Amino acid sequence: MPAMIVCVCNRVSDRDIRRHASEGCESYDTLQMATGVATCCGRCDSCAREVFESAQVPASVHVHRAVVQAVALPA
Ligand code: FES
Repeated sequence: MPAMIVCVCNRVSDRDIRRHASEGCESYDTLQMATGVATCCGRCDSCAREVFESAQVPASVHVHRAVVQAVALPA
């Protein structure tokens, strides 16, 4: 599926937002600092928030991934 540009001003796609969310970006403010999304004209704000909120991974999943990686590493 092709990426959709969410923020034209800062050229941020839905794929960029989902990637940040999957990598543990904890808040919309942090996403804005990392990508610049919705920091110019602001027209993309509601769409960007919607994509971010739908893509957020619960914190427990990050803990699970860390444990799995720790167990999988050779001693
Ligand atoms: S379109 Fe995102 S700040 Fe203008």
